[in-house]
Amino acid sequence: MKIYVTRELPGAEFERLKEEYSVVVNPSSLPPTEDELLAAVRDKDGVITLLTDRMTKKIIDGSTLKVIANCAAGYDNIDITHCTERGIMVTNTPDVLTNATAELTFALILSVARMIVQADRYTRGGNFNAWSPTLFVGMELHDSVLGIIGAGKIGTEVGIRAKAFGMHILYTDLLANPRLNALGARRVGLNELLGLADIITLHIPLTSSTHRLIGAAEFNLMKPTCFVINVARGKVIDEHALVVALKTTKIAGAGLDVYENEPIVSDELKELDNVVMLPHIGSATLTARIRMANLAIKNLCTGLEGGKPPNLVNPIGNTAVSIGNNAVGSENTAVGSESTAVGSESTAVGDESKGVR
Ligand code: DGY
Repeated sequence: MKIYVTRELPGAEFERLKEEYSVVVNPSSLPPTEDELLAAVRDKDGVITLLTDRMTKKIIDGSTLKVIANCAAGYDNIDITHCTERGIMVTNTPDVLTNATAELTFALILSVARMIVQADRYTRGGNFNAWSPTLFVGMELHDSVLGIIGAGKIGTEVGIRAKAFGMHILYTDLLANPRLNALGARRVGLNELLGLADIITLHIPLTSSTHRLIGAAEFNLMKPTCFVINVARGKVIDEHALVVALKTTKIAGAGLDVYENEPIVSDELKELDNVVMLPHIGSATLTARIRMANLAIKNLCTGLEGGKPPNLVNPIGNTAVSIGNNAVGSENTAVGSESTAVGSESTAVGDESKGVR
């Protein structure tokens, strides 16, 4: 079996993969270019991709691939519809990055609410001359309202952490979430959440229904004191509308781990002081990254050896896909809203509208 891996991966399983199969690894620390990817998968049976590798119709048609194992929970980088038509299995790595991503979400929440990054810059800059009652006065999380858009696994874990901080929790999702409800969380429509939350955090996958889910109209519904956190996918927010909302103080600030045109971060965003920006590191703990690599390898090898990979996201032959595999930040694609109902846990599985077009 011939395998291509688009980047060096951590963990012992990866070393074993290289010993047991004929594996070519992209030697660069950057994603392969389209031409490099095309040349690399031309004669391969399987590939391990990252979210940066766009598996388009052109790449798929130029290959002999049987399995594409995405080393990410999200798989909006892959043309799923075309893979299904071609009988190519696509898998992802859900669950293993849930805690890491929920923790990073909280890091951003605390950073924006308490101006941690600005305060660090101020202190390093030698500006700390005296304690002051008005210096970096932030928002107290206790008794504030957290609005979770997309109450899948990551959204749920963020809610659990929010409860420990004494926050009130609202969430929007097509399905009720018993774990969040048990914490006293309330399921509301999207517009109600937008109007009531002090902090809004996005945990939805990128699909045709969630593309630019949050735009100018949605920012207009938010409180001027509201902070928006996005660790899901950049394209679920209209980034220009976000910049306008931040500049005109329609909202107080944002904490971003993802961008509309990643890895490009717009100069407009960089110029703003009320944004904390990270380079898409939601799952970047050693534990999560090793587990992601191991799971991608397991999915790949199972598929190549004729079995049904544990995290198959498209229906191939008579294999059924498993519920809960489809999302970035949520196993639901659901956003429950009176105005914008997008997908649902059940309709989302095997939803072929998620791929690259
Ligand atoms: C994913 O797995 O989809 C994450 O965005 C990677 O950090």
